[in-house]
Amino acid sequence: MARNVRSTFLYVVVSIFIFAVLYHHFLRDTTNSAVISATSTFSANYAIHENLTNAAAAAAPPAHTILTPSPSSLISTTAVLLPDWEVLVIVSPETTPSNLDNFTCLFDTNEVSPARFSGVLPFPDRATFNCVLPVRTRRRLPFNQPVLLKSPINPPARNTPAPPLLRWSYLVYDSLTTEDDVVLFAKGLNNRQGINREPTEFKCVFGDDVINGVKTAVTTSIQEVFRCKRPELTAVSSVGGEPEPLMRVSLEIVAENRVVPSVAYYTPPRKLETKGRKSLLCAATMVYDVTKFLREWVLYHSKIGVEKFLLYDNLSDDDLGKVVDELVKEGFDISTYFWRWPKTQEAGFSHSAIYAKDACTWMMYNDVDEFVYSPNWYNLSQPSKSLLHPLISRNSSKVGQISIGCHEFGPSDQQVHPIMGVTQGYNCRRKYENRHKSIVLLEVVDDSLLNVIHHFNLKPGYKTRKMNINDMVVNHYKYQAWPEFKAKFRRRVSAYVLDWTQKLNPKSNDRTPGLGFSPVEPKGWPEMFCEVRDNTLKELALKWFGIESDSGYKMAWQRC
Ligand SMILES: *[C@@H]1O[C@H](CO)[C@@H](O)[C@H](O)[C@H]1NC(C)=O
Ligand SMILES: *[C@@H]1O[C@H](CO)[C@@H](O)[C@H](O)[C@H]1NC(C)=O
Ligand SMILES: *[C@@H]1O[C@H](CO)[C@@H](O)[C@H](O)[C@H]1NC(C)=O
Ligand SMILES: *[C@@H]1O[C@H](CO)[C@@H](O)[C@H](O)[C@H]1NC(C)=O
Ligand SMILES: *[C@@H]1O[C@H](CO)[C@@H](O)[C@H](O)[C@H]1NC(C)=O
Repeated sequence: MARNVRSTFLYVVVSIFIFAVLYHHFLRDTTNSAVISATSTFSANYAIHENLTNAAAAAAPPAHTILTPSPSSLISTTAVLLPDWEVLVIVSPETTPSNLDNFTCLFDTNEVSPARFSGVLPFPDRATFNCVLPVRTRRRLPFNQPVLLKSPINPPARNTPAPPLLRWSYLVYDSLTTEDDVVLFAKGLNNRQGINREPTEFKCVFGDDVINGVKTAVTTSIQEVFRCKRPELTAVSSVGGEPEPLMRVSLEIVAENRVVPSVAYYTPPRKLETKGRKSLLCAATMVYDVTKFLREWVLYHSKIGVEKFLLYDNLSDDDLGKVVDELVKEGFDISTYFWRWPKTQEAGFSHSAIYAKDACTWMMYNDVDEFVYSPNWYNLSQPSKSLLHPLISRNSSKVGQISIGCHEFGPSDQQVHPIMGVTQGYNCRRKYENRHKSIVLLEVVDDSLLNVIHHFNLKPGYKTRKMNINDMVVNHYKYQAWPEFKAKFRRRVSAYVLDWTQKLNPKSNDRTPGLGFSPVEPKGWPEMFCEVRDNTLKELALKWFGIESDSGYKMAWQRC
C-alpha cells in the first residue's frame, strides 16, 4: 500500500517535471521559424462572434493582446473540421507558402499532426492542408484551430488564443459570382430533405464588417444553394482582377441575428473558359481517382459529339492533372475544378450549371464509368460528332432535358481492370434499367439550380424527355472487377450509398445486393449481376476505336 502511494507520488512528480520541460520548450519564442497562425480577422469576426451583438462588443481588439512577431513569419489560416476528424487548413489568399512539404499542425493541446498539402481552392487561389485532429484534442471542447508550422521543433508562442475550428456542418463553403448575382454554397441551413427555408430568412453579407457591412437580399434558398443580388461596391473591379481588398461573403440568418461562418469570397464573375465559341454539348462529372478510365471516356464521348469536359475533382491523388494535361495537349478540351467538399455532388452540379452556362449549350451529366450510346448506331462504320444532335436540336423547343436510362454491368468474369478498357471488358449486365442520367439545356435550368440524382428542375414551361431504352442508353460499368469496385466504393465518389460500411438504409435501391457491409470480396463476385450478355457497345467501340496490330486489336485509348 505504502509502496503504491509512493510510486504514484513519484509518477506525478516526474509527470509534472516532463510537462514543465515540454511546456517551456513549446512556448519558447523563435521568431525565425516559419509560422502560419490562425489569427485571420475574418475567422475572428465570423467564427467566434457569430452572434452580432457579441461581435459589436468585440469589434475593437482587446487591449491585452500581445501582438505579432515579424509579420514576414506569419501566414494566416482558417481551419474547418470535416467528417472523420479531418481538419482542413486553408491558407489565406494573400499568402503563398513557398514550399508545401513538411508542414505540421500544432493544436492548443500541444499535440501535433502532419499537415498534408491537399490542393488549391479556386477563386481566389488558396493552398490547403489536411491534418487529423489528434485523439487527445477530441476529448475536450471547444476544438480550436491549429497553427501550421514548418517544423514542430521550437514553435513560437501563440500570440492570440486559438479561435474554434469552423464546423463543416454549418459553413458557407464556396461561391460563384455571375453577371447579375452571387451564388453561395452552404451547409447546415436547409437540412431537412425537401424543406427549405424562405429566402427572406437570409441576407448575403459582404466583407468582414458583419454589422455595418454591405448586405443584399437572398432570392433563392434550396438545399445548399443560395443566390443573392450583387452588392453595389465601387471596390470590385469589373476588369479581371480581384476586388480590392479581397472580400468574404456569407449568409446572415436574419431572425437569429447571426452570420454563418464562411470560407467563401466575393470575386468578379467567373466563367468556364471557351475556346472562342460556345459548345453545343459538354459533359460534367465528379471525379476521384479516375485516371485509369478517363482516356477511354473522353475519347469515346468526344467522337460522338461532346466538345468539352468539365471535371469536378474530389481530391484525386492519382495524378489526374498529368492525364488531363496529356489529353489537352492532344487537343481535347478539358477543364478541372477543385471541389473537395464531402457529400456535395448535387451542389457541385448546381455550380457547374452556372459556371458553364456561357460555355456550353447542353450539359451531359454522367460519370466516368458511364457511356452513352444508341443501339441504332450498331451498323455505323464510323462515329460522328452529330450522333447526339437529333436529341439536342431545339426543334422541339420545350424540351429542356433528356433523360436516358442506365444498364448496370457486372464484373463479367474480370479479375482486374481490363486493359482494353471498360467497354471491352464488361459485357454482362442486369436485365432491367436502373436510374437515369441526363443531358440538360443549361439556359432553362431553374434559378434555384435544384437537382436530384443527376436531374435538374427546369424553368416553368420546359419538360424532360425520357428516352426509350432501345433508342438511347447509358452503359454503366458499375460493378467492376473486385479491386476496382472496392476502391471506388471505399471513396463513394458517386454517392450511391451513404456509407457502404454502415448498416444504414440496408434496403436501399442503391445498395449492392449481396455485398453486406465489409470490404471483403463476396463469393462469386466475378459472375454476379450477370443476367444478360450484352455485346452491343463492346462490338461498336471495337469497330470505331480498335486498331489492328500484329498481336490482335488494340484500342485507341490504350497506352501500350
Ligand atoms: C521533408 O522531410 C523529409 C524527411 O524528413 C526530407 O527528406 C525532405 O528533404 C524535407 N523536405 C523539405 C522541402 O524540407
Ligand atoms: C446574442 O448575444 C446577446 C448578448 O450576449 C444575447 O442577449 C442574445 O440572446 C444572443 N443572441 C443569440 C441569437 O444567440
Ligand atoms: C469526395 O470524397 C469523399 C471522401 O471519400 C466523399 O465522402 C465525398 O462524398 C466525395 N464528394 C463528392 C462530392 O462526391
Ligand atoms: C444492322 O445491319 C443488319 C444487316 O443488314 C440488320 O439486320 C440489322 O437490323 C442492322 N441493325 C441496326 C441496329 O440497324
Ligand atoms: C429534330 O429535327 C431532327 C431533324 O432536323 C430530327 O431528326 C429529330 O428527330 C427532331 N427532334 C425532335 C425532338 O423532334
